[in-house]
Amino acid sequence: MCGIFGYVGSRKDAGKIVIDGLKNLEYRGYDSWGVASKVPDGLIVRKDIGKISTVDTATFEEESELAIAHTRWATHGGVTQLNAHPHLSEDRTIAVVHNGIVENYAALRDELITKGHTFLSQTDTEVIPHLIEEELRKTGDFAAAVRNACLRFDGRYAILAMHTASNTLVAARTGSPLIVGVLHNPETPDDYGYFIASDTPAFRKYTHIVQYLDDGEMVVTDGKTIIFSDIQTGEEREKREIEITWEVEEADKGDFEHYMLKEIMDQKESVARAANQDEVQIQTLAEAIKNAYGTFLVGCGTAGKACMAAEYFFSVVANKHVNYAPASEFKVYHHFLTDRSLLIVVSQSGETADVLEAMHVAKSKGAKVLAIVNVQGSTISREADYTLLLNAGPERAVASTKALTGQLAVLLLIAYALAGKLKEGKMLLMETSSMINDMLNPRYVDRLSNLAERIKEHEDLYIIGKSWHYPMAMESAIKIQEVSYVHAEGFAGGELKHGPIALIEEGTPCIALMGKDEVTNDMLSNAMELKARGAFIIGVAPENNPVFDEWIKVPDAKDAQPIVSIIPIQVLSYFLAVKRGKNPDMPRNLAKSVTVK
Ligand code: F6R
Repeated sequence: MCGIFGYVGSRKDAGKIVIDGLKNLEYRGYDSWGVASKVPDGLIVRKDIGKISTVDTATFEEESELAIAHTRWATHGGVTQLNAHPHLSEDRTIAVVHNGIVENYAALRDELITKGHTFLSQTDTEVIPHLIEEELRKTGDFAAAVRNACLRFDGRYAILAMHTASNTLVAARTGSPLIVGVLHNPETPDDYGYFIASDTPAFRKYTHIVQYLDDGEMVVTDGKTIIFSDIQTGEEREKREIEITWEVEEADKGDFEHYMLKEIMDQKESVARAANQDEVQIQTLAEAIKNAYGTFLVGCGTAGKACMAAEYFFSVVANKHVNYAPASEFKVYHHFLTDRSLLIVVSQSGETADVLEAMHVAKSKGAKVLAIVNVQGSTISREADYTLLLNAGPERAVASTKALTGQLAVLLLIAYALAGKLKEGKMLLMETSSMINDMLNPRYVDRLSNLAERIKEHEDLYIIGKSWHYPMAMESAIKIQEVSYVHAEGFAGGELKHGPIALIEEGTPCIALMGKDEVTNDMLSNAMELKARGAFIIGVAPENNPVFDEWIKVPDAKDAQPIVSIIPIQVLSYFLAVKRGKNPDMPRNLAKSVTVK
């Protein structure tokens, strides 16, 4: 939530660099944007409501070696130009961009008002530059002033701060991510600098060398040197330089009109990449599950649905009971966690605040944490005891698609390893990957586009599933809701007759997800119950059945069935959005990386 990006170094177009890089962080928030560039006589600040992608980079003509920028997902204060970041100190010499929440901002604001400060916005952020200004008066040292101010903030935040008096960029984090991009190549000694961003796509085209800030750390750089330190103690920290493995092109949408469709198509390869895990490591993790007194799976939204499907994977494939909880609910489980418990957390971004909280709860009880994440180097991956990467490549559309199928693949693989059948599981997933490749052909995609055309005027849509298709029905609803704004709900097939069936009217579209397994007949009965009330039944299944008004064929992928069943729903959601005139990559009210609780 919110993207922040700063640059300081030898280049003279810092404003252009940050605005351009910020466009790659738009997925983190897109209701307003802003930039502050340092120029000889002060700061040039531009900000406005609207999407950063619409801003013309060429207009940032000023010569500047230091700039910071922000793309906003509003928390405190509406979407207005005044609430857009950067925010400035009273004397307009200090600029700050911020991701996260300063929970005690109201008290700080009152205190600052009594000292003569005036506030222009409704944001929590604005207290930051004003407090730094107060501290600067006391110490005369900008970095020390930022540190002292940070010591007074409650909450989770990442900030970038700059001052007109020097070419110094200061960053600090607790909770929200910050990554340093290093531009120091001995072959080009005159071209140097440091980038600091919420995520690597902001600066990936300049460098693939990064350094991560951990929670409670800050960094001070003038572009030539950089010093990491602990915010509390001031003690300096050594940082390793790490190489990012993904290429710039992987984050590009190429010839596709939207990232969402590109990422759906990426699944032709990404499932196989996710399944191609180190076998020794998977076996070790399976052992850890075997030995744990209670294994818990947590995630949020789509990732949570992968965890819920894994409950069924572990039960069907490995005769093992594991427990799923949405990450935001996990905190209450601390009553019975012990140092023999195991927590498996699943997250695309590796930065989701609710997931981090669940990890902290588990760790406080001595439990071990396994993380399944897509973003290499993310906070969750660094804080976990073991990490498995999905290797799906960057996911830019807000709606998660290829990360989900990668998560399902890795979880299924672990279930197979637990059953002592790792090789068999890997083979199944490789076959599934090739089935997905065949399935996502232009004719198939066209059929789903036509189906979207047919049902696009309906404002209600229901999806049913049983066993692992129950979480996939819920995931289908998330996908349809978030990109097309159609009211969609996913149910366990057997639950409809206990209430929700009252919602069905003549022609209501209902999607039934099913495979060829022990629950197929139950699902067909549930579909018939709906049809008898007038529903228009769309069957997503390997075999046709007279109950279906429309049949979307999926391959018979056995235990990997949920992976193939969800893909046509992703495509359908995409076309529903486009045909209803919505931008599927940037749904209203949402952001890709949810770093607030
Ligand atoms: C929906 C979606 C969200 C995320 C959720 C968790 O399409 O993308 O529901 O799955 O916000 O995010 P991560 O996986 O980054 O922890």
